[in-house]
Parts: sequence; C-alpha cells; structure tokens
Amino acid sequence: MDRYAKETYGDRIAGVYDEYHARLNPADGVAFLADLAGAGRVLELGIGTGRVALPLAARGVKVDGIDASQRMVDQMRAKPGGNGIDVTIGDFSSFALDDRYALVYVVFNTFFALFDQDAQVLCFERVATHLEPGGRFVLECFVPDLARFDRGQSTTTTQLDVDDVRIDASLHDAAAQVVRSQHIIIRDGKLEMFPVALRYAWPSELDLMARLTGFEREARYAGWNREPFSSASVSHVTVYRKS
Ligand SMILES: C[S@@+](CC[C@H](N)C(=O)[O-])C[C@H]1O[C@@H](n2cnc3c(N)ncnc32)[C@H](O)[C@@H]1O
Repeated sequence: MDRYAKETYGDRIAGVYDEYHARLNPADGVAFLADLAGAGRVLELGIGTGRVALPLAARGVKVDGIDASQRMVDQMRAKPGGNGIDVTIGDFSSFALDDRYALVYVVFNTFFALFDQDAQVLCFERVATHLEPGGRFVLECFVPDLARFDRGQSTTTTQLDVDDVRIDASLHDAAAQVVRSQHIIIRDGKLEMFPVALRYAWPSELDLMARLTGFEREARYAGWNREPFSSASVSHVTVYRKS
C-alpha cells in the first residue's frame, strides 16, 4: 500500500464509519474516562467522528481532539455538539499545542495507526509534554494474536447476507509488526474497499515506551469496567501516569 498515508484510512471510511461500527457502545469507556478526567481538560488522539468524544463532552468534560482526516472530523461537526469541540488537523505523533491536559486518551486500537516504533515513541513523548504534572495517558488496544494469520495472510468473512458480504483481507509483516488490510464491502452489486495499516505493539512494549518517556504504569485492565487483565485477555485498557 505505497500510497497509504496517515489520512487515508479516515478519508476513505468517513462516510460509512459510524454505520460500520454501530454495534460499538462507548458508554463504559466514556464513564471510565469521565471518572479519570474529573474537572480537568482532556485531549483525544484520533478523535474521528466523535464516537467517544461527543458523549464525553455531553457529560460536561472539556474535550479537544487531533485527527489526520478532515473528512472524519466533518462527520463529527454534523452531529449535535460537534461544533463545540476544538480539533487540530494533524499527526498525533508530532503535535504541538499550547494547552496542557489532565488526561490524554487514544481508544479503539488507534495508537497502532502510527506506522512504526519511532512514531509510537514520539507519540508518548508528545503526550508527556502536553500533560500536566501527574496527568494520565489512557490507551485501549488489542493484544496481538498472531494465530489469526496463516503464512503471513488472513482472509475473513465478517458479514454475509443475500445482497451483502464483508471480507477482511490482511497481510502480516512479523518483523515490522505491521498488518496491512482491506475491509471489502460488496453490496447491491457495488464493491467498496477501505484500506487500513496497523503497527501493533505488545503490552510490554508499550510499557517500555512509557518508561522511556517519563511515565509509570498505574493500571492495566482487560476492559473499561476494570476487569482483571491476564494472559488470556484479548485487549487492554492501560493507564499511565506522568512521573
Ligand atoms: C479507528 S478511528 C477511531 C476514531 C475514534 N477515536 C473512535 O473511537 O471511534 C482512527 C482515527 O484516527 C485517525 N488517525 C489515524 N492516524 C492518525 C495520525 N497519525 N494522526 C492523527 N490522526 C490519525 C483517523 O483519521 C481516524 O479518525
């Protein structure tokens, strides 16, 4: 995917993102983040269509956002409350804002949208710079599952109906920890493709990035309801605190 850039995913999927992810309920994550934010200001990395930011702001939390895709942000602007959120269009591995925050968060595996380890470490460093002393950085990420791949590829049917099929086709580069995928939707005789590239990191690698950039790990859960994390967990919510 040579022509894939930081805005490609959002620009291509913006028109169907909310429909595609309609089954996701942000309520538990919003309650968790509101609890941590208290009366402080909050920044979301990869704010997208405001799936999490809008209900968080509706609880009275002052939320700002960063996103690479103007088209994703346009979707948020069209929703109730969408014009009340300050968004910077840019890369969340290299941002420089004037404001400082009590909480920065990145959910739904969006941290892995950063293409390589350098960009991911830079993101931690940028977050540390933008946090108030004692501020927190929260990540929601999947735990890598290499069993999904068969000789470096996977093809999965995620939905199937009389006039609708959804297929995920992926290539895995184990050395770079990169997965390049196409979400393919064929419906009513029309085919659409939504590319996405992820550079995954193990929870332990995230902990090392955190230590390198002045954080200590405060908590790791298996989900937003603070379920215990174990080696069987498929995803995690991790809270780092600026030392
Ligand atoms: C999977 S969506 C998540 C959107 C929202 N946080 C949610 O949970 O629904 C990922 C978002 O991150 C944005 N994004 C991807 N790479 C980015 C980057 N390097 N800098 C800023 N935004 C980026 C995309 O444009 C997209 O809006």
